Amino acid sequence: MSRENVNETAKLVLPNGQEIDLPVAHSTDGYDGVELGKLLSETGFITLDNGFVNTGSVKSQITFIDGDEGVLRYRGYSIEELAEKSTFMEVAYLLMHGELPDFTQLEEFRMGIKYNTELDWDFRKIYEAIPRDGHPMPSIAGAINLLSNYNQSCLDPHDPEQVEKATQVIMGQVPMIIADIYRRLHGMAPMYPRHEYTLVENFLRMMFGSPSQEYELDPELVHTMEVLLILHADHEQNCSTSTVRTVGSANANLFVSVAAGVDALYGPLHGGANQAVLEMLENIRDNGGDADKFMEKVKNKEDGVRLMGFGHRVYKNYDPRAAIVKKHAHRVIDMLGGDELLDIALELEDRALNDDYFVERRLYPNVDFYTGLIYRAIGFPTDMFTPLFSFGRLPGWIAHWREQNADPRSKIFRPRQVYQGETERTYIPLEERQ
Ligand code: ACO
Repeated sequence: MSRENVNETAKLVLPNGQEIDLPVAHSTDGYDGVELGKLLSETGFITLDNGFVNTGSVKSQITFIDGDEGVLRYRGYSIEELAEKSTFMEVAYLLMHGELPDFTQLEEFRMGIKYNTELDWDFRKIYEAIPRDGHPMPSIAGAINLLSNYNQSCLDPHDPEQVEKATQVIMGQVPMIIADIYRRLHGMAPMYPRHEYTLVENFLRMMFGSPSQEYELDPELVHTMEVLLILHADHEQNCSTSTVRTVGSANANLFVSVAAGVDALYGPLHGGANQAVLEMLENIRDNGGDADKFMEKVKNKEDGVRLMGFGHRVYKNYDPRAAIVKKHAHRVIDMLGGDELLDIALELEDRALNDDYFVERRLYPNVDFYTGLIYRAIGFPTDMFTPLFSFGRLPGWIAHWREQNADPRSKIFRPRQVYQGETERTYIPLEERQ
């Protein structure tokens, strides 16, 4: 039975003896929440939750995670089933619209995106200002911000037609921007998307093809990319999605909200971890392949070294995405001729899973632990790993932004603070300061 409409309250007793009954928000699966909205006005107290480890910021119907059991579902469908049977386009539609599309809906969705892949010629001139030695992520975020000015007819967050158009432009053009920026950074001639290819095929063509010859797509690699994009498509209220929601809560348009998500994802504790994992594995290899020495450093917290690709705020069990990626990593890497870094990764994982330090803290591989190895086998340079994550996460960011804008209960995000600075004091003129 659904408990969503059951009226329950939680009693909170404050240090001054005051009591307050707070309404309970019931979930359909997972944790219930205690609604705190009236706590300040009725008691003068706020709640404090550093890093939001225990704070629900929204009611959402998109993605469910059970971190203890290692469960991830988009709109009720298990990630394992979607990765095996679905496509990235179908999953994107599912996340945004709540249901799997029928044939006509999927065709319309795909066509809307396909006919919006081409970038304005003036827009492409911005690449000339991008330094060749910089990381692609800030440039991608900058370019998406600018898309806002190139698409001024679809900026109204409350007009469904404009939101649909902005969705198509972002889904169609951001992957092309990522490929364009890659080509710019590597001094390669520009490519153009072609309508006979799917979004993922066009992306691979624009990354690895040449304007002067046909690009031969490998169906195995296209399939692997589809799976990886599906695995990254959403992960409920993670750092970048919460950023997209925060920016969007000010009624900012979809383009600038998604650009903010790209910036948040760039951080090495979030999407930047896939690049950090590869660099860590290369480092271990270059130092003689001694995993023991590295693990000792991690456990002694020397120089803040962490086992990158391990641990997660929500998963206290094996990240279900990591299990799927691991399977594909073996397949793709074997197919492409092996990789000594995979052996190092397997050894690190084995040691960590049998080591008290990791067991006690419930640290398991997350999605980033094996993805970089697949990207490397396909031929992506290390600094493209996080951009690939941002490509995959586009549907999730858009779905959350749309859900928020369609919800009449949405409010601008504006957390409070417990102030611990100086109390009021008198200004001392400069010449009188000691
Ligand atoms: N290696 C070694 N120790 C770790 C690791 C790790 N990867 N992750 C957590 N710990 C330790 C911490 O030092 C801490 O130890 P302590 O209790 O002795 O102080 C304990 O485990 C808890 O760690 P927190 O940092 O408090 O956990 P939090 O939930 O805040 O952080 C995070 C989660 C950021 C993912 C963390 O596990 C981490 O830094 N992992 C490595 C980076 C990474 O892989 N990020 C990708 C996350 S998935 C994603 O964003 C797609």
